Order: sequence, then structure tokens, then C-alpha cells
Amino acid sequence: MKRYLVVGNPIEHSLSPTIHNYWFKKNNISAIYEKQEIKENELKNLITGVKEKKISGINVTVPFKKTIIPYLDELSPEAQKTQSVNTVSLEKNKTVGHNTDIEGFELSLKESKFNIANKEILILGAGGVVSSLIFTLYKMKASKIVLSNRTKENAEILKRSFKNLEVIDWGKLTNFDMIINATSVGLKKDDKINLDFSKVGNDKFFYDIIYNPAETDFLKNAKKSDNKTENGKKMFIYQASAAFKIWHGIKPVIDDQILELFNND
Ligand code: ATR
Repeated sequence: MKRYLVVGNPIEHSLSPTIHNYWFKKNNISAIYEKQEIKENELKNLITGVKEKKISGINVTVPFKKTIIPYLDELSPEAQKTQSVNTVSLEKNKTVGHNTDIEGFELSLKESKFNIANKEILILGAGGVVSSLIFTLYKMKASKIVLSNRTKENAEILKRSFKNLEVIDWGKLTNFDMIINATSVGLKKDDKINLDFSKVGNDKFFYDIIYNPAETDFLKNAKKSDNKTENGKKMFIYQASAAFKIWHGIKPVIDDQILELFNND
């Protein structure tokens, strides 16, 4: 039986196995998808497992989306540009790294009906997923992207790949049409971002990459002032469906049962 894996650290709360195993059933695919918490020194062996066809595909999550790259034979153009890989497949006996976070984020934005063209975007955070956000937002013709991260150096590193980025100090806010929380603040229920949104106004788009909990303090506050909000659920589902398409050549159906998986908190 074919075996697929999601690897990361931590990995306990990943919903990827539930989604992919559900889609296996729906599409009569004989395979199993599991999660595995790993250390960085296990990456090499895992990729060897893909090469030797012991593992048919791997999803990679925090904190290995970049560190996996040296072990792969090839990268898709998107993975190359963002230096971020979340999906590994074997193609013509070569291990290939893909980035389906980009498609996930793009489709979620299209569905939200917020038109990114000519908008000013403020991103909070500079972790593994942020290069994918920036890539997508420029692709969708954002006029300006400003980045703020607690450790400024990590934001400056991203500026090397995206020259037009503006970096500001953590704690400051600029004008924006859309603000994205890409920090890990909010994963714990009582987490609060230490920023003052009281002067932001009420016609902005607040997007949180976090999907569990479904409503972070960041989104709760935004709603109080009648802003538009979106959590990371759609992005997560769409990145999974793009990975499924790469591995199986089938675009899986996103039905109510999939959406309900996320209503458990
Ligand atoms: P990784 O960097 O391994 O990809 P991540 O969870 O995707 O991990 O990223 C964590 C992000 O949340 C980082 O931008 C981190 O900021 P630093 O670069 O300064 O570490 C940010 N972050 C985590 N805890 C934070 C906090 N208490 N306040 C502000 N930002 C925080």
C-alpha cells in the first residue's frame, strides 16, 4: 500500500492525515497518510525513502520547509523563488520539492472576494510561510508590502529575495488595506499580539494564517470594529488539495465534511 507522510515539529495537531485519508476513501485510492514528528537530522533518510519508493510523498511543515531543500533533486519554480517546500513527490526518479502554500493562499484570497490589486499589505511575522505570502501578493499585483517582525533581522533576510519589500520596526503600524498575522501568536487561546489597532479604522481586511483556534484575538478585535476577516482554514485546505493533485492527478472535492473538520475548537 502506498504511504504518505506529513513531517514537522510539533506535528501532533496536524489535520493533513485526516484530510488526505478522507480523500483516499472518496477517490478509491489504496493508500495511507500518517504524521511523524521528526528532528532535522532525519530529513535526509526520509528523502531517501521517497527515492526508493518506500514513501510515495511527503508534506513538510514548520520548521523544515527550508531545511529540506538541500536533500531534494529539483525544485518547482515557486519553491525555488520562495525557498520554501511543503510537498515532495517523485517524478522521473527525481525527488521534487513543490510549494502549494502559494496556491492555497491565492485561492483563499480569490474566494474571499478581496481584490489584492493596488492594495497596501502589512505582514506581521517572518517565519517559513511568509515568502509564500509575499510571492502570492506580488503575483496578485499588490502595490506595496510592508513587513514587521519581532526579530528585524529575519525580515531583512526576506528583503534579499524581494527587493521591493519595506521593513518596519516591530510595534509600529503603517497604513494598510490588508493586514496578515503570520506570527505564531494566537496559537494558544490567550495569546495577544502586542500592537494597538485602535486607530486602524473599520474597512480593512484582517487575515490570520492560524486556523486553530478558528478565531484568534487578532480576528476577534478586528470583527469588533467591523473589519473583514479570514482565518487560515481555506488556505490550509487548498494547499492540501494542490498537494493531492500533484500526487494523484485528481483535484479532490472540498465538501461539507472537510469543512466541518475545522469546527471542533
Ligand atoms: P519558523 O520561523 O520556524 O517558520 P513560524 O512559527 O512559522 O516558525 O514563525 C514564527 C513567527 O512568529 C516568527 O516571525 C516569530 O518572530 P521571530 O522571528 O522574532 O522569532 C514570530 N513570533 C513568535 N512568537 C512571537 C511573539 N511572542 N511576539 C511576536 N512575534 C512572535
